[in-house]
Amino acid sequence: MTPKILVFAGSIRSGAYSGKTADLAHKELAVQGADVTRISLADYPLPLMDEDLESEKGVPQNAVKLAGLFDGHDAVLIATPEYNGSIPPLVKNAIDWISRVSKIDGRPVRPFNGKVMALCSSSAGHFAGIRSGAHLRAVLSHIQADVIAPQVSVPNGGSAFEENGAFKDDRLRKGMERLCKTLIDHANLKSPRVSA
Ligand SMILES: Cc1cc2nc3c(=O)[nH]c(=O)nc-3n(C[C@H](O)[C@H](O)[C@H](O)COP(=O)(O)O)c2cc1C
Repeated sequence: MTPKILVFAGSIRSGAYSGKTADLAHKELAVQGADVTRISLADYPLPLMDEDLESEKGVPQNAVKLAGLFDGHDAVLIATPEYNGSIPPLVKNAIDWISRVSKIDGRPVRPFNGKVMALCSSSAGHFAGIRSGAHLRAVLSHIQADVIAPQVSVPNGGSAFEENGAFKDDRLRKGMERLCKTLIDHANLKSPRVSA
């Protein structure tokens, strides 16, 4: 069974620690046999959520595209940074817009409902973005995503990665292996795909 897993980071900064964490998640998920789609939110720019804009122009096409990607994958992994003890606006704004998509080409969709999801967090500091991860978990649970318990939280992002992008800390490497295994197992339980 080959689950399809969507992976993205909650930062579009060049050299982002969350981007490096998402890269490692991508690599490990692929090693464990998942079919991974890695995207950047930079390719799906969205205006700030505004219900007047939504009434006038509808949900932006990029939100519909992202909702389609959620819908077309068995699981989603988000690697989030932490801003002021919480979720960065890039991530929250994307979630808010995606949550407004109820139809794609006339077909009803519920992008988050029952979606198997995993979270990683990272930060420049000692706390590894755990507050952001906790807030994001609460938001996603509120919109009925099925967020798995294992979470990889990377402290001191500036010194956490080797030149080749690997984690320096073996506990983080093992944590990522466990997270990816759990995510694949959950995705397979929810929507088993038989490989061709
Ligand atoms: C607006 C803002 C608020 C931040 N707040 C926090 C914070 O609450 N906790 C923390 O550990 N780091 C905080 N940082 C520092 C980030 O951890 C650091 O900039 C990190 O590199 C951002 O993630 P990225 O590397 O994935 O882009 C903040 C950064 C910004 C720009």
